[in-house]
Amino acid sequence: MEANSASKWFFLCMVLFLSLQLTKCAVTYDRKAIVINGQRRILFSGSIHYPRSTHNMWESLVQKAKDGGLDAIDTYVFWNVHEPSPGNYNFKGRYDLVRFIKTVQKAGLYVHLRIGPYVCAEWNFGGFPVWLKYVPGISFRTDNEPFKVYVSVSVSVSVCLAMQKFTHKIVQMMKDESLFASQGGPIILSQIENEYEPERKAFGPAGYAYMTWAAKMAVGLDTGVPWVMCKEDDAPDPVINTCNGFYCDYFSPNKPYKPTLWTEAWSGWYTEFGGPIHQRPVEDLAFAVARFIQKGGSFVNYYMYHGGTNFERTAGGPFITTSYDYDAPIDEYGLIRQPKYGHLKQLHKAIKLCERALVSADPTITSLGTYEKAYVFSSKSGGCAAFLSNYNPRSTASVTFNNQNYHLPPWSISILPDCKTAVFNTAKVGVQTSQVQMLPTKTEFHSWDTFNEDLLAAEDDSTFTVSGLLEQLNITRDTTDYLWYTTSVDISSSESFLHQGQHPTLSVKSTGHAMHVFINGHLSGSVFGTKEVVRVTFTGDVDLKAGRNRLSLLSIAVGLPNIGSHYETRSTGILGPVVIHGLDEGTRDLSWQKWSYKVGLKGESMNLDSPNSISSVDWVQGSQVAENQQPLTWHKTHFEAPEGEEPLALEMTGLGKGQVWINGQSIGRYWNVYAIGNCSECSYSDTFRPKKCQFGCGQPTQKWYHVPRSWLKPTNNLLVVFEELGGDPSKIKLVKRSATSI
Ligand code: GAL
Repeated sequence: MEANSASKWFFLCMVLFLSLQLTKCAVTYDRKAIVINGQRRILFSGSIHYPRSTHNMWESLVQKAKDGGLDAIDTYVFWNVHEPSPGNYNFKGRYDLVRFIKTVQKAGLYVHLRIGPYVCAEWNFGGFPVWLKYVPGISFRTDNEPFKVYVSVSVSVSVCLAMQKFTHKIVQMMKDESLFASQGGPIILSQIENEYEPERKAFGPAGYAYMTWAAKMAVGLDTGVPWVMCKEDDAPDPVINTCNGFYCDYFSPNKPYKPTLWTEAWSGWYTEFGGPIHQRPVEDLAFAVARFIQKGGSFVNYYMYHGGTNFERTAGGPFITTSYDYDAPIDEYGLIRQPKYGHLKQLHKAIKLCERALVSADPTITSLGTYEKAYVFSSKSGGCAAFLSNYNPRSTASVTFNNQNYHLPPWSISILPDCKTAVFNTAKVGVQTSQVQMLPTKTEFHSWDTFNEDLLAAEDDSTFTVSGLLEQLNITRDTTDYLWYTTSVDISSSESFLHQGQHPTLSVKSTGHAMHVFINGHLSGSVFGTKEVVRVTFTGDVDLKAGRNRLSLLSIAVGLPNIGSHYETRSTGILGPVVIHGLDEGTRDLSWQKWSYKVGLKGESMNLDSPNSISSVDWVQGSQVAENQQPLTWHKTHFEAPEGEEPLALEMTGLGKGQVWINGQSIGRYWNVYAIGNCSECSYSDTFRPKKCQFGCGQPTQKWYHVPRSWLKPTNNLLVVFEELGGDPSKIKLVKRSATSI
């Protein structure tokens, strides 16, 4: 090769090498901040969970987050949707994690990937697949081999399942797509486990051993970016322990050389069916963030920035609502919520003006009065920035700082990026409030077809009979919310209650979550648990006839638990006793007699929710049957999509409880249960300053159910409703959501 062309090649190779080096970025940390490409950064991040919106919404959500002044998007990884059965993976549609991360990357934002794989998150079973519970000898989230590295040996293959395998898999997927910042991708941080500290303490040495194993396992995956453990004060080096909460200014990392990170700044709160709606005033949230930054914090993630929707049966709990709106800056439907969004945007802007000062110096704290302080960050390299705070919850303070006067409203912080001009105060909201309306659309649901479930739960091929009462999840494996328990009650014609016009009383104890009681195909009553009291007991008079009676109990799961030590051991379903009182013999205990079990509903096995369901189904046609108020009824209709771009929702008026689908896609569970709570009450960050308030008491907790536009075709959309209690589907409305500034 000639010298000339050799040097050309050398030059080209160097350019290529350098450009590759430039796009890869090194992420490390020091005591002040996360350090990206040698720069300490103040970072704002927001949680957006990819399965809680459709992939058509992702781009716009991420863009709004960017416009709101965020640097990063944070998401959990939801194991149970990705691995519905051992070794079978699903990363399609809403579950396309790589596509979600690439969407964030395209917008130029970073990612914090919280792999967990325990996530809590008000998500079904805290993100664990239900099959994991049935791995022999398993115990979740502790020093337990089956949980950590379960190896299943079949005839010819051995597959490693469990936590380590899933974590490896996700990390490998990210590496294969070069998504870690060390590879040029957007992921700058990853999380292993989630809020493990309470469990570690409860589990003693086994908890500590598991926690240190999990940290070591994660670090060993060599992602080139730091790992965090949230709410785990013992997180071993190099893992960073981080804070979650309404406030985190009291928090310090466990080593002086780690940065102060806030992985969950709660922007609002989740809702439970039967409970009120929670809202967090933005003044308090902004105050909390400014407090954290002035104390030396350098990373804030809003949990949630967009909460979204618990589609299908992904809501945890039990009783977490289908809406996961969270009073977040972007609402469930993807619309900007003002003034929350705008006020935080201004806060981010003000803090970013201070970034160089904040990362270059430690604050000098001076008292300006009893409740007033100045936090001054000053250095040659970073200039000067100051935070003036008034912690008095009741009165405005007038303070003098650097020979100038400043008025600080109660419970507020002013930000001075040049140590002179206050560009922002957390309590002064200058952004207009958005007025949200659910407006009618032209769509009408004309004619309904109806299919009634068999209220006797008559036996078929899927029925099996055993003596005694069985735990529900063990039978359904959560393939459905529903399990039928059926038995016979023989009554002799000489029973005195038959001749005295009285009724015996039935008592059924269930470990949760809800239950309908049928005697000879008639609904005798229903009971529903609450988040606080999950167990339910049915007690009621029952209409028994002489001869053989059929007692059918439909037990209903309403979202599996997602929190608490060994929540995997909690039972669901009817474990008894089931007894009848008031017979001549006194009390008859039915618990140990023969019970027939049927998993799920007939309509479920016939895929009535799907446009491709078998055609031989005997739907009863015509609108008049819509007035049919019989329990356990399927209703279907076709409709045209409304014009326009506004987000849509179903208003489920006229119905009780059930599930709803559009074009075979599950909108989720609905339940017209009224919110009880103390709606005049707030919880306080201080005696006078509310951090979270309750609303909506005396109204259904959730009235509207998000219908993603992308699930609709222009015409001939199939709407299917399964109603448990009996209701009138003709009252359902399709409405559109509008948010305007006032
Ligand atoms: C945290 C948890 C989150 C979520 C939140 C409440 O403790 O880490 O996953 O459950 O509480 O919304």
